[in-house]
Parts: sequence; structure tokens; C-alpha cells
Amino acid sequence: METTLVLVKPDGVQRGRIGSILARFEAKGLQLVGLKLLKPEASLLEAHYAVHAERPFYGSLLKFMGSGPVVAVALRGEGAIAVVRNLVGSTNGAEAAPGTIRGDFGMSKSFNLIHASDGAETAESELALWFAEGTLDESLDSLAWVNDPEA
Ligand code: CMP
Repeated sequence: METTLVLVKPDGVQRGRIGSILARFEAKGLQLVGLKLLKPEASLLEAHYAVHAERPFYGSLLKFMGSGPVVAVALRGEGAIAVVRNLVGSTNGAEAAPGTIRGDFGMSKSFNLIHASDGAETAESELALWFAEGTLDESLDSLAWVNDPEA
């Protein structure tokens, strides 16, 4: 089992896409184990995006991400990190495959609706930042019908 972090970014919240984005993860069979709506502090965003600190878009990225509420989501499932990345699609909505969240809901590289952890180490550090209080331990009964225990 893996747990990964998703953020619905300010554009996704402002455009009323929280429900339709979360619905895709639920429909896939991932379990929500953390969920909160918040306007993130600059210090949280700086820690989250430290890896991009030298990029030319870093300043505008922090400004955008701090411009309004975001939804932080922790999702659990078998191979959840890669499963979620595949559902999210590639960075630029204009090029992301139809059927992915970015491919279906957006056309921008920066206003790309959603963030998802890109690997096991990132998921661990990002979850510690956004869900310092921890995530839900309990598993939904329905998860037993998502992955075949004998496969
Ligand atoms: P995210 O998955 O949150 O990780 C880094 C973010 O930087 C990315 O999504 C985009 O929102 C943003 N980003 C990546 N490349 C560019 C770019 N060339 N110009 C502007 N923003 C970018």
C-alpha cells in the first residue's frame, strides 16, 4: 500500500473542479485518507517547491499557489503514487492526454489544476508537510474489492 499527496491548486478550486477531480480518484478505487481546504502560508509553499527554487517560474509559481485556497488530499492504494500520476496527466494541459485530469480540464502549463507527488520519497516528505498531524489509519471495506488479493 502507498499513500500519496494531491493538491487541487487555486485554479481548480476557483473553477469549481474540486468535486470532479476527487470523484476521479474515488472512482478509480483510491481511498481518501486525508482532506483539507486551506490557504497555504508562504513557508509551506517554499518547503513544498524547494526543488524548483532555481527555476525561472519559481516566483510566479509561489505567487499563484498562495493566491487562493487549495485542497490537500492524501490518497491510499496499491501503487497509488504511479496510479495517481497517470490519472493527473502531463504538466501542460494543452498537451496532456484526453482522459487525464489535466488533459480534460485545462490548457495551461502553470494553471494545471493539480499537483501529485512524483515518487516515494517525495510522497513521504510532502505528506509530512501538508499532513503533519498524520492521515487516517482505517481502511474502507470497499478497498478489499479493488485489488484481487490472490493476483
Ligand atoms: P507541479 O506538479 O505542481 O510541479 C511544479 C509546478 O511548476 C508544475 O506543476 C507547474 O504548475 C509549474 N511549472 C512547471 N513548468 C512550468 C513552466 N515552464 N512555466 C510555468 N510553470 C511551470
